[in-house]
Amino acid sequence: MKSVFYSIAAAGLLAMPVTAAEHAMGDASAGEDAFSQCSACHVVVNDEGETLAGRNGRQGPNLYGVIGRQAGSVEDFRYGDSIVEAGENGLVWDQESLAAYLLDPTGYLREVLDDDRARGKMSYRVRSEEDAANLAAFLATFSEAEEEGEASSDS
Ligand code: HEC
Repeated sequence: MKSVFYSIAAAGLLAMPVTAAEHAMGDASAGEDAFSQCSACHVVVNDEGETLAGRNGRQGPNLYGVIGRQAGSVEDFRYGDSIVEAGENGLVWDQESLAAYLLDPTGYLREVLDDDRARGKMSYRVRSEEDAANLAAFLATFSEAEEEGEASSDS
């Protein structure tokens, strides 16, 4: 029932005109649907080992908490050199940078590193800006930082 509902909702969204504001924000539930494009290579698995999205794709890094995380920093994942370098230079994923990366991983890394020989190991591109923004919004739902904002409670 649930998945039927989601596909009907997603089909409806595609048919509707999207305003600039909605476009910029991204729609997490549409992003959940679009995540089927990613699950061949990625999972979202929390610290307790529960799989929250995807199944068993391991070709790419675990995307749990990726928003707010330094690029290329999942321990034990063998990234390409370029994304690690970008992270060491200070690239921390937010929704905007992540959406831009998804549209063209290698092109994005070339731009942030200002190096035409930079290469991304992710051999997949999201075709539409709308999907990319929705995916970024969906992935943000797995990041505490994004949900709780800057508020600190450790005093
Ligand atoms: C064909 C396999 C494949 C597919 C499909 C794929 N990815 Fe990736 N992804 C990778 C690999 C490999 C990397 C590591 C890139 C590198 O080392 O340069 C990666 C890296 C990433 C990163 C950077 C993570 C980090 O820790 O810095 C994000 C974010 C990401 N992918 C999101 C997605 C999303 C969202 C989708 C679906 C639209 C997707 N990927 C589809 C293989 C894939």
